[in-house]
Amino acid sequence: MNQREDAPLSRDAEDHPVAIAADAAGAAGPMAEAPPPPRSPVAESAMGRSHPHESARAQVAGSAHYIDDLPEVKGTLYAAPILSPVAHGRLNGVDATAALALPGVRGVVLSADVPGDKMLAAFAHDEPVFATDSVHHVGQVVGLMVADSVMGARRAARQVKLDIAPLPAVLTVQDALAAQSYVLPPVFVRRGDAAAALAAAPHRLQGAFEVGGQEHFYLEGQIAYALPLEQRQWWIYSSTQHPGEVQHWVAHALNIENHAVRVECRRMGGGFGGKETQAGHLAVWAAVAANKFKCPVKLRLDRDDDFMVTGKRHPFAYEYDVGFGEDGRITGLQLSMAANCGFSADLSGPVADRAVFHCDNAYFLEHVDIASYRCRTNTQSHTAFRGFGGPQGVIAIEAILGDIARALGRDALDVRMANLYGLQDRNVTHYQMAVEDNILHDLLPKLEQSARYRQRQAAISAWNEGNASLKRGLAITPVKFGISFTATLFNQAGALVHVYTDGSVQVNHGGTEMGQGLHTKVAQIVADELGVPFARVLVTASDTGKVPNASATAASSGTDLNGRAAQFAARHVRDNLAAFVCGLDGCGAGSIRFAGGQVISPKAVRAWDDVVQQAYANRIQLWSDGFYRTPKIHYDKTTLTGRPFYYFAYGAACTEVAIDTATGESRVLAVDILHDVGHSINPAIDIGQIEGGFVQGMGWLTTEQLVWNDKGLLTTHAPSTYKIPATGDVPAHFRVDLWPEANREDNVGGSKAVGEPPFMLAVSVYEALRNAIAAGRGCGGRVELTAPATAENVLRALGRLPSV
Ligand code: MTE
Ligand code: MOS
Repeated sequence: MNQREDAPLSRDAEDHPVAIAADAAGAAGPMAEAPPPPRSPVAESAMGRSHPHESARAQVAGSAHYIDDLPEVKGTLYAAPILSPVAHGRLNGVDATAALALPGVRGVVLSADVPGDKMLAAFAHDEPVFATDSVHHVGQVVGLMVADSVMGARRAARQVKLDIAPLPAVLTVQDALAAQSYVLPPVFVRRGDAAAALAAAPHRLQGAFEVGGQEHFYLEGQIAYALPLEQRQWWIYSSTQHPGEVQHWVAHALNIENHAVRVECRRMGGGFGGKETQAGHLAVWAAVAANKFKCPVKLRLDRDDDFMVTGKRHPFAYEYDVGFGEDGRITGLQLSMAANCGFSADLSGPVADRAVFHCDNAYFLEHVDIASYRCRTNTQSHTAFRGFGGPQGVIAIEAILGDIARALGRDALDVRMANLYGLQDRNVTHYQMAVEDNILHDLLPKLEQSARYRQRQAAISAWNEGNASLKRGLAITPVKFGISFTATLFNQAGALVHVYTDGSVQVNHGGTEMGQGLHTKVAQIVADELGVPFARVLVTASDTGKVPNASATAASSGTDLNGRAAQFAARHVRDNLAAFVCGLDGCGAGSIRFAGGQVISPKAVRAWDDVVQQAYANRIQLWSDGFYRTPKIHYDKTTLTGRPFYYFAYGAACTEVAIDTATGESRVLAVDILHDVGHSINPAIDIGQIEGGFVQGMGWLTTEQLVWNDKGLLTTHAPSTYKIPATGDVPAHFRVDLWPEANREDNVGGSKAVGEPPFMLAVSVYEALRNAIAAGRGCGGRVELTAPATAENVLRALGRLPSV
């Protein structure tokens, strides 16, 4: 079945029965005499069904609010950033005279206007709020111009003259390595004796390659709206994945306590990791400006400025030396990964760590020696991006395995299977975590069958023989992605569930909605816990005044953490109601069921709404909090060992591509995915995440090229020069199947996290392209393909353009 064609239909068809069943339950009326006809648990439950995204209709109709849609408070001013045009230099002066003379301009905001710490409250404390005496990348924010219109502020910002004496800039990872220019010290992880294993290996290969960064290209750009309230209190609207951090950063910059800052985010128009820390910068800038002018200030970056100011996925450069046997099984590996972190640490430490944790992907590396360099360059400060370093780790080992297969003339899937983590032995990672839930020994053969991998491989070989200029390639690559924040403390969450006297339910949790469907899933979980229809549950905006100290919505764990916290909150309310009904009916606790909008005791069936009203009249608490912390995880940061992940999410993709060896153009023709989301809470949303994640990964590896020139200027800073996948790039055949088993760990609803893991399925595109290129080269030898596989890079890999 092609999900792309059928899913919208089946999603709708699946939803109507739920709505009808719910209506019928309501119509049965209060205190019905006879118990209702038994219904299957599936018909009653909200979980496991493809409810449309809670905002889908409003978003399509244009009535879902993003921050720039909110009604503005009288007196609101607008800010625009003043950007450094120099990659590295001494900042000798800022001359805003011409800018200040423009009509409507209210003033300039510089470092001296920051009332609190002039450094951001970032964990490494290495980034100024505004550049002070030096600049460190083209696009660094030196200050703001504030005016009574958006365009007035932007025009003014461009009139500011900066006196900067240029200094030598470090622009590439290679230059940073040579200069030992790091944002954080290198990390080395070793197991066994890689050098000895390499010396003894029957076969050995060395190689080097690079993968590029990636712009987040959220449809809603970075934005913050800061409103001063009475008595030095603040309300901040921020498009952020981490309202708690925005609160903390704003308080730090304004030199006030956290309790005086309230941050709200109803939804983001996409975050993808780009709003995990870097939304905080905008909020701080807007707040400092609002503090200076004692007016509300809104700061929305123009798209080109967003590209210039904010960090991206970390570009990586690799070198490897691998030893292997006749069957392609790796016996020893030395791998060096150098991350381009940009000018400050930001999240580069944990991103580079996650690359180390995922450079095994699904494979047992017995003798391994990994070096991870966190390079400081004079570019934007690179940050979280879907997969958080995981993709940069996964592609390293997959590229190495592809090289081994081609060197041996063996099928790459056979080589991958020979290296998989074992079920009994060979199942401990290089960071000493046992892989206990490995399903790839079943999943990969299943995909191999359903995608007809062997038959197609043979057909493609024959086809390539007969075609001089077009070549095809096919590849299957798996994913094993660790779920949990590697910093154990972040794996906690809180929620509030309020039941109102009409029986309607409101839930608030510490997570944020960025399009991934978190609020929809949390509403489904709460609906099931209370046995009420999905439509009775409303999830409200993320708000630091409701649930405090929440972690970023990141690491794909939004539903795992907040869904569980909300489930526990709902359970407390349900327990209160159950105890109340037990009192009425004289029955034991545990004998009360909540289902189908009814409360069912051995003595009576009552409508939910009636029970709620009666409980209220009897002074029963109808709201509660809930708190969850992930069990089992522990991890030692100094040795990078332990059990950083609660479980792994798995999947695999089979991708077919074609290249034109004359022009270097490529196309993804067909994709078959088998992915593990455990028991899906919402199949439509999960399939959407798998499709979206794959296509975003495909963009990273094919068309999305970031080009910094030799002055450090990002020359690809708008959709005119930076190409994300469009609908026309979606493969004509795109099939997504879900693995049927539940999570083997006790996770909410038996589900698994889905946000990031499918991104790495797109590594199959890169490997399929390299197979097509190998066919095009004919002569054998290593295929050195720099990602993204633009036409130029494909031609270089074919040997038809000189390498750079
Ligand atoms: N899906 C949409 N539509 N928009 C996004 O911004 N971000 C991704 C993923 N899916 C994103 C998305 C990233 S980077 C993460 S970490 C997860 O969603 C976060 O949400 P979750 O933990 O609720 O899955
Ligand atoms: Mo996602 S990169 O963890 O925000």
